[in-house]
Amino acid sequence: MRKFVIILLSFILLTPTCGMFSDEISFLVLSQKNKYHLGVAKQLKHTIIEQSLNLDDGTKPNIYLSHEVFEKSNSWAIVPILIDILNQLITPQTKWLLLCEANSVINLRKLLQRLSEEDEKQAVYLGYPLYDREATIIHHFAFFRNPSEFKYPFLKAGVAFSIPLLNRLVDRLLLSSTKHIVLPKAPTDFTIDPAHELALFIWNVDKNLILKPVPYLCSHHGPECAIYAREENIFCGNPISLDKVLFAVKTCEKYHKERLPLLLQTWARFTIHLRIFSDALDETIPTIATGVLNTEHGHCEKSMKILRMVLEEIQRNSTLKNIEFIVLADDDTLLSISSLSEYLGCFDKREYIYLGERYGYDLFSDDSGYSYITGGGGIVFDVKTIRKLVNSCSCASPSSPDDMIIASCLKSLEIEPIHSSLFHQARSKDYAPEILSRNAISFHKFWQIDPLEIYEWWFRKRDEEYYELNKQVLSDYKYLKNSCVTPSTTNNKIENKISHNVKHVEL
Ligand SMILES: *[C@@H]1O[C@H](CO)[C@@H](O)[C@H](O)[C@H]1NC(C)=O
Repeated sequence: MRKFVIILLSFILLTPTCGMFSDEISFLVLSQKNKYHLGVAKQLKHTIIEQSLNLDDGTKPNIYLSHEVFEKSNSWAIVPILIDILNQLITPQTKWLLLCEANSVINLRKLLQRLSEEDEKQAVYLGYPLYDREATIIHHFAFFRNPSEFKYPFLKAGVAFSIPLLNRLVDRLLLSSTKHIVLPKAPTDFTIDPAHELALFIWNVDKNLILKPVPYLCSHHGPECAIYAREENIFCGNPISLDKVLFAVKTCEKYHKERLPLLLQTWARFTIHLRIFSDALDETIPTIATGVLNTEHGHCEKSMKILRMVLEEIQRNSTLKNIEFIVLADDDTLLSISSLSEYLGCFDKREYIYLGERYGYDLFSDDSGYSYITGGGGIVFDVKTIRKLVNSCSCASPSSPDDMIIASCLKSLEIEPIHSSLFHQARSKDYAPEILSRNAISFHKFWQIDPLEIYEWWFRKRDEEYYELNKQVLSDYKYLKNSCVTPSTTNNKIENKISHNVKHVEL
């Protein structure tokens, strides 16, 4: 009885210190299963809970991690889970659904204050507005006459949905599923940029439903921010040395003269183990012939053959015994070998690594859809994933799309793609500048850009430094382990090196 009175009293006496109670927002964090990304998401959840304890408003915020509440692996595409969101995450007292990413930084007090000043009865969504500077392939060239007119939210800055808006969207989805009315969605079955596709879906439901920009959902840290987007951390203190990574480039004879020189002048200079696979052998580059005829599109057979050949060489060539990761790249992929090496050090080696930029195919259907790592931005595998892949997958036809076949096969082996926004299937100018990180790992396509200039601007300096650092460490390592070197020459080399170093110091 006394307890009841206390609860009743506290209920009456408590007014929200920030204009709203913590439990009037449902947080949905777009999360991933792998240990590294899960750790970041859990940390965010923890800081929100901690902040709510300090608010002392007697309520607990509802924080959901998407991969925990939704079993389907299509939740990252957002639109396919709107119905589930409404059914599972919204309670009678919820006023806002706050969608964000693991790398969103949240100030709960400010967020409650600012959202309490908004009209939650209106069908509305609030966020940081991104827009395309020019029509871009990643958005299917939408609004190509005036691409900047269409605003879509920066998910990492947080997006707040009112419940009336969610209801309207779900009504529309249900209508199309019962009455067979075509769903207003992206022009293809592919999911590329969920934020853009979500905004387009909403706009297609009703042209008056446009993103409302608010100053407290920010692309960068600032005093007015209730939420701001933080760059994905690549520095986990455990960078992978370059002798553990094999870079496999996929090319064909037509591009030997046009593209390969550009690769060899840029990131390929800073690799230790590089293999260039082509339909034609050219010892001057050198390329390795796959024996698979080139196809205009798809390349499934070629890629599978490359992975098989890489695996075989790893087993045969003892110099490759340290290899842990294989990067499959196109001949027009620009990579940062330093950012990649740092980032790979963030992952748990016991997990299957299948990493890059995630796209989706047919994610609205329950069974046939899947997510895949898109090839142009580079696909990173660890050796055990390749072994599984090579042992259990084959191409439907030589020209099936390689990246998609790889994914659908890995899905059957229960290996899911690990997404990173640091990999890019398109050129840097295809993305809104706010979302590009200075720790970007890849860009793709040499169309209407100068690849040398792009590499210089984004990657060159740090790659060079990282390579030099690795070379110093690894050269010692190499000749101590190398059985071909006789002890006396080893000693000479060491002495030379020491005297060289001393000279260096004297200078
Ligand atoms: C073994 O690997 C090393 C390092 O990548 C390479 O230089 C060498 O040519 C390879 N040997 C053979 C026989 O392929």
